[in-house]
Amino acid sequence: MITEQQVLNALSHVMDPDLHRDLVSLKMIENIKIDGEKISFSIVLTTPSCPLKHQIEADARDAVLTMTSASEVDIEMTSRINAPKGLDLGGNCFKHVIAIGSGKGGVGKSTVSLNIALALAKDGARVGLLDADIYGPNIPRMLGLDRLPDSPEGGKIKPSEIHGIKVVSIGFMVQPGQPLIWRGPMLHSAIQQFLTDFDWGDLDYLVVDLPPGTGDVQLSLTQSMPVSGAVIVTTPQQVAVDDAYRAVNMFAKLETPLFGIIENMAYLEMPDGSHQFLFGEKGGERLAAQVGVPFLGRIPIDARIGLGGDIGSPEVLQESLSPAGEALIEIARNVAAEASKEAYRKIQAR
Ligand SMILES: Nc1ncnc2c1ncn2[C@@H]1O[C@H](COP(=O)(O)OP(=O)(O)OP(=O)(O)O)[C@@H](O)[C@H]1O
Ligand SMILES: [Mg+2]
Repeated sequence: MITEQQVLNALSHVMDPDLHRDLVSLKMIENIKIDGEKISFSIVLTTPSCPLKHQIEADARDAVLTMTSASEVDIEMTSRINAPKGLDLGGNCFKHVIAIGSGKGGVGKSTVSLNIALALAKDGARVGLLDADIYGPNIPRMLGLDRLPDSPEGGKIKPSEIHGIKVVSIGFMVQPGQPLIWRGPMLHSAIQQFLTDFDWGDLDYLVVDLPPGTGDVQLSLTQSMPVSGAVIVTTPQQVAVDDAYRAVNMFAKLETPLFGIIENMAYLEMPDGSHQFLFGEKGGERLAAQVGVPFLGRIPIDARIGLGGDIGSPEVLQESLSPAGEALIEIARNVAAEASKEAYRKIQAR
């Protein structure tokens, strides 16, 4: 007769590779049921986007099969997103706020922000996307949106909802083609309003697409937002990497944790399968190593990304995923894992 204690004992030998502790002491095991030699239980992960989901499941199954007399192990993989304390802003609650920045413009922040938001939602999280690029709010076009839906009289403003995410863009507030001129105090209150006056509800992840650079505007934006962590996008080019390094230092000064660096437009895949490094090789990866933050992945150059961005058809929603689409999904999961780790560190430190 197998006992619950035996199952727990077996699972206490299985580590969460990210959090470096075992599944039992992390309280990730629930619902153990024993029916003769058939064992079933749930593993509760800290994010539905966990990149190590399959490894953890396989390790847990192996452990129970080898350390007990079970002949069948049925595991339900679920998640409960961990957060130190949801950020409660005017009735909206954000578990994780993830800012996507860059030093140089045009390196793919908006493309990455949008696809990360959609990938996290596809994995089952509740996701919002805030386009805070006051210079060039591009998210509406990338989603084929041009305005907000009607909002209830006297109530909070409703975000747009598309492909399972909530979207608010500074572009909804202004006329197309009009230059956007914002000054410090106005900017602060605009950002505050984005967080409090809109009906985001409860979100697991709010992804924020920042303007490029480390100027005054950039600083006041990040300072008026409770950011769990920042992600920096760069191309492998030295000029982009130099500017990304400035962005790294800016987030460090602001005491915003850095989740890592993404290398976009990393290479072009040729018809013979070889890779052409048009903008140099591994610039983003080297920067990550140099400043000691995770390298979150690289995205190849793909004409479909450019076209998809123009016609409101994001890469990760394509039916057959391109290598770029697959890279974006993997990167989204790596970002979610970093957010979980950061939340875990904060919870432990309390
Ligand atoms: N991996 C890629 N392959 C091909 N085209 C890409 C890729 N990533 C981004 N692009 C294209 O490059 C252009 C710039 O990308 P995007 O707008 O996402 O950059 P950005 O960093 O947000 O720019 P800005 O600084 O102006 O806000 C867009 O036309 C986009 O479609
Ligand atoms: Mg942009």
